[in-house]
This record gives sequence, C-alpha cells and structure tokens, in this order.
Amino acid sequence: MTSAPMRILSGLQPSGRLHIGNYFGMMESALKLQHEGDAYYFIADYHSLTSVHDGRLLRDHVRNLAIDFLACGLDPSRCVFFRQSDIPEHTELAWILSTVTPMGLLERCHSYKDKVARGIHASHGLFAYPVLMAADILIYDSDIVPVGRDQKQHVEVTRDIAIKMNEAFGEGLLKLPQPRIREETAVVPGLDGQKMSKSYDNTIQLFEELPALKKKIMSIKTDSTPVEEPKPVEDSSILALYKLVAAPADYQAMVDDFQRGGIGYGEFKKRLLQATTDYFAPFREKRAEITANPKFVDQVLAEGAEKARAVARKTLARVRDAVGLG
Ligand code: TYM
Repeated sequence: MTSAPMRILSGLQPSGRLHIGNYFGMMESALKLQHEGDAYYFIADYHSLTSVHDGRLLRDHVRNLAIDFLACGLDPSRCVFFRQSDIPEHTELAWILSTVTPMGLLERCHSYKDKVARGIHASHGLFAYPVLMAADILIYDSDIVPVGRDQKQHVEVTRDIAIKMNEAFGEGLLKLPQPRIREETAVVPGLDGQKMSKSYDNTIQLFEELPALKKKIMSIKTDSTPVEEPKPVEDSSILALYKLVAAPADYQAMVDDFQRGGIGYGEFKKRLLQATTDYFAPFREKRAEITANPKFVDQVLAEGAEKARAVARKTLARVRDAVGLG
C-alpha cells in the first residue's frame, strides 16, 4: 500500500508588500516543499481584514502578493495556490472550532497581545485570528506548516483545538499538523535589529526600487565603533541579512573584515546592497513578465480555488456530520 503524500500548507497575509523576512522565513521553505509533497499555499485575505480596512487597497495587496509569490518561483502546476476568501468553508469551520476553543488559549497568544500593544484595534476578529488560522490548516488535513518563528504558537494552538475537537467528536476527526521552522531564518531582523515586520516599519521589501532599497540599507542601525576598530559580529543586522543573500565565502570575508577593523559600516552596507540586488534580480525579471500577463494570475487563482474548495468541502462535510449539523 502506498502512503498518501505529505500535505503541506501555509499562508501569507496581504496586508502590505512582501518583505525579505517573509521570503526567508516562510516562502523559501514553501517553495522547496512544493517539490516534496502535496502543497497548498494561499493568500490570507480574511485575516488581513483585521488590519486593512480599505477594499481597494486590500485587492491591490492580494494581486501584488499573488504576482510576487509566482515571481519567486511558486509553480502552479506543482501546488494549489488560492485566495482564502474564495473558500468560504474556512469561516464555517472556524465557527465550529471556536465553540471548543478555550478563551484562555487565545488570551495567551503573543501575537494578539503584541498587535494590541502596537495600537491595532482589539477587535473580536483579531482575538479570534488563531481560530481562523486553525481552520485554514485543519480543513486541508495538513501535515506540515512552514512558517517563521512568530507563527509557531498559532500552529500549537491549532493542534490544541484539533485535540479538543477529536476528544469531543471522535478520535481521528482532525489531523494534527506540525510547524516546520528553519532555525537559521526563523527570525529575520529588520533595519532596527528587531524582527522584520510591516508593523514595526523596519522592512526591506522584496521588490523595492533601487533608490528606496539603498536608502533603507544605508539607514540600518549600527553602533558607534570607529572605522579603524574591530566591529562586534554578534547581533549585527548587516551580517545577519548579508548571510541570507551572499555567497558563503563573501559572508565569511565580511565576518573577517568586521573582526579585523579598518572598514566602516558604510562599506559593509554597500556590499549588502549589492548582494541583495543581485539575489533578487532574477525574481524581478520574472515579476515583470507576470505583470504583463494579468489573465495568467486570474487563471492560476481560479484553478487553485476550484481544487482547494473540493478538498475543503469534503473535510467540512465530515466535520458537520460529526458535530450534528445539517
Ligand atoms: P504573515 O503574513 O505575517 O507572514 C507570512 C510568513 O512570514 C513569516 N515571517 C517571518 N519569518 C522570519 N522572520 C521574519 N521577520 C518574519 N516576518 C514574517 C511568518 O512567520 C509567516 O510564516 N498568520 C499568518 C498567515 C496565515 C497562515 C495561516 C500561515 C493565516 N492562516 C495558516 C500558516 C497557516 C501570518 O500572519 O503570516
């Protein structure tokens, strides 16, 4: 008997333009995994409603995210790529899951507390965000969820909710997923050394135009070590970012130059700028091609929605049956 292929699932919020934290934290693994199993990737537009309250802007972000992901190498012949809101079954499952989800589980979520502390409106949707995320994952019977470290707790909450459902309605009703986190890129730092995040305004976007990219990289926070002295390598955002985009030998050369002294931060930032531009240049070309063919994007999302919905309907029917609906 052959076993079913591993089911991989992940999503990205269209709440702004993609940044290199998204790319190295999640997309790079997701792109590799599309060759290793049955991959489902989606644009989490229902989730973005917790922070974007402008319909035109949201549609714009959705489109750009779709183009960006395709430009980075998402292959629609190898995975199912769709818009979350094309599959309304997610929201119905979220409601069912919410009825077994303990309040305390959601009250402990760092992401909610962090967002409220940064001034995002503490709506019910923001509080219930992890329940919708659990529905996204569980509705596809996902085995593996590639994410950055900031989403680990949400996948753990998903497991806890699945356990509650299985206890209440029958073992094996929902499959327990595992987060897949790549340690080296689990938290990509931003321009100020904190985690790179849209809401910290410290991002380098994937498809930033050169003048803006230059301005941002030149503004990376550094300490005041004089040019001639050795520079600390620990906690350097320049080095951490350079490691992601440079060849290993070039990265080692920068570490050596940091430790030797005699070179200022401005020079290191120039090397980082060059390596970042070079790294993303092929994606930029692909992006231009895809942008010139808007029908292609519509078609990919329409086909993805059809395939995803067929799976989501089946799981939802199983759950409705188990809980006594319909
Ligand atoms: P979002 O849109 O905030 O982020 C998308 C992915 O990028 C990762 N990430 C990072 N990784 C490393 N370093 C960083 N600085 C960094 N910033 C972002 C995130 O960990 C994430 O993997 N809740 C999700 C969207 C979602 C989802 C899902 C994901 C909705 N439903 C179901 C997986 C499964 C989110 O906000 O991602």
